[in-house]
Amino acid sequence: MPTDRTAYAPGADAAPETRVPTEVQRRPLTRDEARVVVAEIRDSPKITGYSPAEWTGGRDTFALVHGDTGELVGALLVHHLLGDWCEVAVMYILKEHQGQGHGRRLMRAALDALATSGKRQLMFFTPGPIAVLARDYGFRVYEDEAAYCAQGPSRWFFLKVVYKLQWRWSLYRLREIRRKRRVLDCDFTFQLGVLEPETARRKAEEFRNVTT
Ligand SMILES: CC(C)(COP(=O)(O)OP(=O)(O)OC[C@H]1O[C@@H](n2cnc3c(N)ncnc32)[C@H](O)[C@@H]1OP(=O)(O)O)[C@@H](O)C(=O)NCCC(=O)NCCS
Repeated sequence: MPTDRTAYAPGADAAPETRVPTEVQRRPLTRDEARVVVAEIRDSPKITGYSPAEWTGGRDTFALVHGDTGELVGALLVHHLLGDWCEVAVMYILKEHQGQGHGRRLMRAALDALATSGKRQLMFFTPGPIAVLARDYGFRVYEDEAAYCAQGPSRWFFLKVVYKLQWRWSLYRLREIRRKRRVLDCDFTFQLGVLEPETARRKAEEFRNVTT
């Protein structure tokens, strides 16, 4: 599990698309950071959620922090799956910072880092900003799980068996699914995107060329 506490993105300058200077760090969240992120996600019908333990070292995580104060702006969690797959499982920008380009910056830094892993990347989302970002960063988008599974039995087996088993292997998630269905009327129907390693590398290269 990567625990590199140094800034992942070179320098701490503001990305052109963000208002405040930010820095992306590939590291576990602190307990206090995780408490804030988990509390906000518990209110979201669009994200099932990962437990505090997963945010604080159990998974591969990225923190987007304010470049001057070090205060958390947003966070992204990657679930490395068996075989050659990983899932960009949560991307969350804290409420007060949403809509200012931080999601774009965080996702780009994480995808740049993951591009070297050679893994296929999976992501679930609802229509809106994440769908926009997924398309921009080269994900092939499927309207729902059925559309993905219709591509062949090996895809059905991966998504419905291999993936689902790993994703649900968490009491936290099982409890959250039940609670969100009851309290937030969440039906957990999402679009999904798949990013092939070749495309990920090409996109990372393209973006590097644009910004250098
Ligand atoms: C979703 C989220 C991560 C996006 O991060 P953000 O910092 O708010 O988004 P950005 O400001 O980087 O905007 C990303 C892009 O989405 C576009 N966008 C924003 N709101 C949109 C909407 N409602 N519909 C379509 N596109 C939208 C923006 O214009 C931007 O594209 P551009 O750079 O080409 O202008 C963040 O808002 C968040 O954490 N929201 C709460 C959780 C959530 O809803 N998650 C979705 C799970 S599926």
